[in-house]
Amino acid sequence: MKFSFVAAATAALSLSTLVSADGDRIAHARQAEKMKRVPQASSSSSSTSTLATSSKPSSTSNGISSSTTSGAPAAQTTPATVITIDPLSSITAGVATGPTLPLTTTYLPGATPPIEGAPPLPTFVFNKADWPDIDRIPPTDSDEVKEWMQELEGFDIPDLEIAVNGTCAANPQLAADAANRGWWTCGGYTRPTDITFCPDKLTWGMSFDDGPTPYTPQLLKFLTDQQLKATFFVVGSRVISFPDILREEYMSGHEISVHTWSHHTLTNLTNEQVVAELGWARKAIQDVLGITPTTMRPPFGDIDDRIRAISLAMGLQPIIWTRGPMNNQFDTNDWKVPGGEVTAPQAVQSFLDILNNATIIDTGFIVLEHDLFPQEVDLSVGYFLPAALGFTPKLDLKPIGTCQGWPETNMYLETTTNATFPYPDSPAASQATTTAQARATAVANAGGKGGSSSNGAVSRGSGVLGMVIGVVAVVAGVQMF
Ligand SMILES: *[C@@H]1O[C@H](CO)[C@@H](O)[C@H](O)[C@H]1NC(C)=O
Ligand SMILES: *[C@@H]1O[C@H](CO)[C@@H](O)[C@H](O)[C@H]1NC(C)=O
Ligand SMILES: *[C@@H]1O[C@H](CO)[C@@H](O)[C@H](O)[C@H]1NC(C)=O
Ligand SMILES: *[C@@H]1O[C@H](CO)[C@@H](O)[C@H](O)[C@H]1NC(C)=O
Repeated sequence: MKFSFVAAATAALSLSTLVSADGDRIAHARQAEKMKRVPQASSSSSSTSTLATSSKPSSTSNGISSSTTSGAPAAQTTPATVITIDPLSSITAGVATGPTLPLTTTYLPGATPPIEGAPPLPTFVFNKADWPDIDRIPPTDSDEVKEWMQELEGFDIPDLEIAVNGTCAANPQLAADAANRGWWTCGGYTRPTDITFCPDKLTWGMSFDDGPTPYTPQLLKFLTDQQLKATFFVVGSRVISFPDILREEYMSGHEISVHTWSHHTLTNLTNEQVVAELGWARKAIQDVLGITPTTMRPPFGDIDDRIRAISLAMGLQPIIWTRGPMNNQFDTNDWKVPGGEVTAPQAVQSFLDILNNATIIDTGFIVLEHDLFPQEVDLSVGYFLPAALGFTPKLDLKPIGTCQGWPETNMYLETTTNATFPYPDSPAASQATTTAQARATAVANAGGKGGSSSNGAVSRGSGVLGMVIGVVAVVAGVQMF
């Protein structure tokens, strides 16, 4: 599969520092369009293809060598390759054109996923006419969006004013009211339904955003070699561009979560546009993998009570990332390296600061990292992950759902059997009841598995949850990290 960098519109990467209403200094109104040179599939992409073969211009190798791929059923397997680690000094701004690692395995329709009760992999044939334009906010007058809008019926979606371009600076009045709006962007306000950390201290709920891309296989190889699993927050536009890579993520046992269709700030969109962004990404994942995620991450962490309520109504529980003791975000800043705002050594320092912060907070943590650009993947496999693996005290690296104590089946609508997840009467919960009954009938020893070790530290009591995430839920529910 060929891929190309498409330079779309604005290439502004900017970071504003501002002062929130309560006087806390907040970095990061990271509104800025992320540099919009994102990998896309070539027009003739077919659903089964292998990426260009690799071997990066060699530098130092970390000695991680090929290993056999794990047991999942596969039709075609290519020899695993050695991962090379780029020297930190060579991870610089700019557009990479270098070779990428091939996928080790191509999973064919009918293959059995590693999640109990998951349907076999479907056949996915990409037909451009079936999808909105990639990397654009989808139109809201389609039959699909009209149908998904019905999912909001019966839910109290707060009628909050839409933010101009999602930044605090451009919305001084809304920023001043951020606590009431539960606006994470301007002050880090969260609600009890948000997942922002792992309950257990020194546990890292590992995740990567904005893929899948041609750089993802290198990350996947590293994770497989180290026997690690992570959560991938995938963008719908990338999913239909690189379905094979999404399949490898899922079939290797990583968690898949919704990260919208075009990666726009959600507080800057109408309800219909938010539904379109979430709905099309959810559909892309469902069409390629046969499962529907029960979780989402808002791009830039940009969420308020309106966006939360829409997400939950659509069966998607929000997951953000941790803020430290000084309200500092657990953000590696890897996303600023391709645009030259931050150097690779500075990003590594950000990560080391995060690990040190992790030793002084009472809970585990979640960090922002990406697999959109090669620099980001190089930093992860060459520096962030090795640093975490060698860290003292020892860290426990897990996907985010797993670190919550959820059984993997909770992650998808088709597989969950938890009738109160993420809250009673949610779409997932209703489906869970049916799934559990069907499975109990069909299989003698059904439902046996399922770690029920939900940790009390994240009590998302059903009472709090309700659907009253209205503006009134206020201060009592606000947590600041
Ligand atoms: C957002 O809008 C403000 C005010 O209109 C402007 O100053 C700022 O540059 C914009 N930021 C982005 C990322 O578009
Ligand atoms: C989003 O922000 C832009 C400014 O960047 C503004 O022109 C647009 O009207 C906003 N969208 C909505 C739905 O209000
Ligand atoms: C936590 O991180 C911040 C930077 O984000 C850093 O200034 C501070 O020293 C860290 N604290 C510890 C205890 O590592
Ligand atoms: C079901 O989900 C709820 C809400 O997340 C959780 O509190 C509970 O422990 C889960 N039960 C099982 C058996 O996983």
